[in-house]
Amino acid sequence: MTGGSGLLGTFVVREFVEHGYDVVNADMKLPMKPDCRTVITDLTQLGQVYGVLEGADAVVHLAAIPVAYSHPNEVTFQNNVLSTYNVLEAASALGIKKSVIASSESSYGLVFALNRLTPLYVPIDEEHPQRPQDSYGLSKIVNEQTGLMFHRKSGMQVVALRLGNVIAPEMYKNFPSFYHDPKERDRILWSYIDTRDAATACRLAIEKESLGYVALNIAADDSSMDVLSRELMASQYPNVSDFREELSGYETLLSNKKAKMILGWKPQHTWRMYVN
Ligand SMILES: NC(=O)c1ccc[n+]([C@@H]2O[C@H](COP(=O)([O-])OP(=O)(O)OC[C@H]3O[C@@H](n4cnc5c(N)ncnc54)[C@H](O)[C@@H]3O)[C@@H](O)[C@H]2O)c1
Repeated sequence: MTGGSGLLGTFVVREFVEHGYDVVNADMKLPMKPDCRTVITDLTQLGQVYGVLEGADAVVHLAAIPVAYSHPNEVTFQNNVLSTYNVLEAASALGIKKSVIASSESSYGLVFALNRLTPLYVPIDEEHPQRPQDSYGLSKIVNEQTGLMFHRKSGMQVVALRLGNVIAPEMYKNFPSFYHDPKERDRILWSYIDTRDAATACRLAIEKESLGYVALNIAADDSSMDVLSRELMASQYPNVSDFREELSGYETLLSNKKAKMILGWKPQHTWRMYVN
């Protein structure tokens, strides 16, 4: 695991440990509450990456600067692109057969766009063009291409998970502060993914065989809103007329169909179970 000290990584470490895996976390910092051994590693340093990956059977690479504009643009790009290159370079040279890398819905470009973007159609699936205007979204696209290159080169299985907005269980209490207002979260098409469901997707992506290289959206089945999905679109994206699925309720607008089909994954958590 890389990034196992972070928001999502904490849950992914736990998911693998609870399923009997021997996990090592490679991160620049220690986790708040350790569930496995952490090796302090700077993944932008290839030698360190070789050292920490030696002996591993598989790698789940989550470490990244997880947002645009928190750092100077080139710092985000350099950290995310170089660490992913190094992880996959070392993994492929060490004969590791399976990997998962964290991509993002941000690669579609809406969320951090300085010039506001409209989806071409909804729900956005993996065929939708990726049009970022920021170095974070771009870093994720480059990382997907890096994954594809290493798959071609070594045959390593590389699953890129285009994660939606990651929500840990304790964050559900914030939902009533926004769930009636379509103007909130419109740039992520109101989508989200529970940390536990994202963690299960990571595990399944390692356990499945013969996936080659594939990119998969990872989102909950429903939106994060208490407004019908059609009404959300009418409010914030009235010009979108291409609806690729029937929307009659609170369906996600970031399609998770492909991940369900390929991983045999089904999100188990919706905020509606935890918020009155
Ligand atoms: N949080 C979200 O809503 C979200 C949405 C889509 C995709 N993602 C992706 O999921 C992954 C995890 O995100 P998160 O929210 O848990 O982020 P986070 O910031 O909580 O955790 C990321 C971890 O990566 C580590 N890290 C960063 N650069 C490193 C480096 N060069 N060497 C070693 N460790 C390094 C950090 O120390 C941190 O512990 C990221 O790849 C992010 O881009 C997150």
